[in-house]
Amino acid sequence: MPTARPRARPVVVSIGGSVLLTGEGDVPYLEGLAERLGRLGRDRPLVVTTGGGRTARAYIETGRALGLTDVELDELGIDVTRLHARLLAGRIGPPTPSHPPATVREAVESVHRASPVVLGGTEPGHTTDAVAALIAVRLRASHVVNATDVPGVYDRDPKRDRTAQRLSRLGWEEFRRLVAAGAPGTPGQAFVFDRLGAELLARAGIPLYVVAGRDLGNLEAAIGDAPFEGSRIGP
Ligand code: UTP
Repeated sequence: MPTARPRARPVVVSIGGSVLLTGEGDVPYLEGLAERLGRLGRDRPLVVTTGGGRTARAYIETGRALGLTDVELDELGIDVTRLHARLLAGRIGPPTPSHPPATVREAVESVHRASPVVLGGTEPGHTTDAVAALIAVRLRASHVVNATDVPGVYDRDPKRDRTAQRLSRLGWEEFRRLVAAGAPGTPGQAFVFDRLGAELLARAGIPLYVVAGRDLGNLEAAIGDAPFEGSRIGP
């Protein structure tokens, strides 16, 4: 009887909605992403969360103008993140569930039989980064990869300040300070990683790797814990 291949430790990936759908080359990107995640998910329990990006923000802005409550705005965002999860999960195909899990618990339970598992948001009050962190803590993941639209963590906002410097390694204290300065915690918030997620990973001592999500070779290296371009936050 063939012996089962030893599996690597679980990894969780949080992909920003702004990476999944940019309006440019989205279909070949999603095809390539699905192929790599499907393959990497065979060697380790792999969970992927998908963000809502500009589509979520458009709904949240319209809802806000209509006077919806913050909880209702968060729920609009969650629904968009789930649409993105369906898109990616559908392309990956079996054993990935095409109907994304709606809770952290369901995702954790299904990943051991259906890796990779793809899901969106869960409940109001945080982003899909926090969902990734909650899952990573429960799975005792080796690390979390944040695939975002900037190639790492910067000392200032690189979209506003061209002199901003990328930090290739940083500790949790420094990262917490940057997150606190950048993430307001309101619906549709945008910073490289969310506050609750950063807090959870810091407490559990799980390293966070931040990479440009559109560079698939580099994203694969970060998931596989090989040398990568980006930022490493951790001890
Ligand atoms: P995202 O995870 O996409 O947040 O969730 P984001 O910061 O906008 O990230 P990018 O741009 O995709 O990288 C979108 C919104 O959905 C709600 C929040 O309002 C969030 O800002 N949401 C998402 C929740 O309330 N709970 C969740 O678990 C996930």
